[in-house]
Amino acid sequence: MRKETPRLILRPWETRDRAPFAAINADPETRQYFYPRLLTKAGSDAVVDAAIVDLADDGFGFLAVERKADGALIGGAGLSCPGPEVPGGYELELGWILGRPYWRQGYATEASLACLDFVWDELEIDTVIGYTSTINAPSRRTMERIGMTYVPAADFEDTTVPAGHVLRPHVLYRIERAGRARHA
Ligand SMILES: CC(C)(COP(=O)(O)OP(=O)(O)OC[C@H]1O[C@@H](n2cnc3c(N)ncnc32)[C@H](O)[C@@H]1OP(=O)(O)O)[C@@H](O)C(=O)NCCC(=O)NCCS
Repeated sequence: MRKETPRLILRPWETRDRAPFAAINADPETRQYFYPRLLTKAGSDAVVDAAIVDLADDGFGFLAVERKADGALIGGAGLSCPGPEVPGGYELELGWILGRPYWRQGYATEASLACLDFVWDELEIDTVIGYTSTINAPSRRTMERIGMTYVPAADFEDTTVPAGHVLRPHVLYRIERAGRARHA
């Protein structure tokens, strides 16, 4: 899976991405809505390793996001299968994490719309979900901006987060393939 947008290249992970991605995952502000909050270099590398395996196995997955203007690795975005903590048996989740210098410039929107185009064009899948902790306003706003709809009935507790923790309540958003369903 590889996608280009006006300002970004979404591509498989390369060795040169590991250090900047680890720096993003070691930033407490960027990781404030994640549990556990910070990743070690090894933990960050494990995310990259898993993405590489998914991309090889499935042909799609969580991608490195490179800025065309300067070749900077600005973060990661893409597709993955929801974990068992997400109720509903959904097939595909869209997720993202960008380094702080790259926030609020429309990059998450641009990367996400490219991933949705990939799903609608290349996969026989009609629904993509996003989910995050209820208090993650930037991520919720990003989901709304790309056309996802909040599904209040699908609110859930992320069982990988301890009971009573502020990040345990989660919200789920969904977007359907536009127009007539593929199998209609
Ligand atoms: C969530 C994240 C990817 C958004 O990236 P971004 O490139 O700044 O988002 P965009 O510039 O495309 O903006 C998308 C929408 O979110 C809004 N937004 C972005 N940051 C925001 C913030 N800090 N507070 C409120 N809204 C915010 C934008 O204003 C825009 O909405 P609008 O069209 O109504 O103006 C980025 O903040 C991030 O990486 N956060 C840390 C990682 C994270 O929490 N990932 C999700 C885990 S589930």
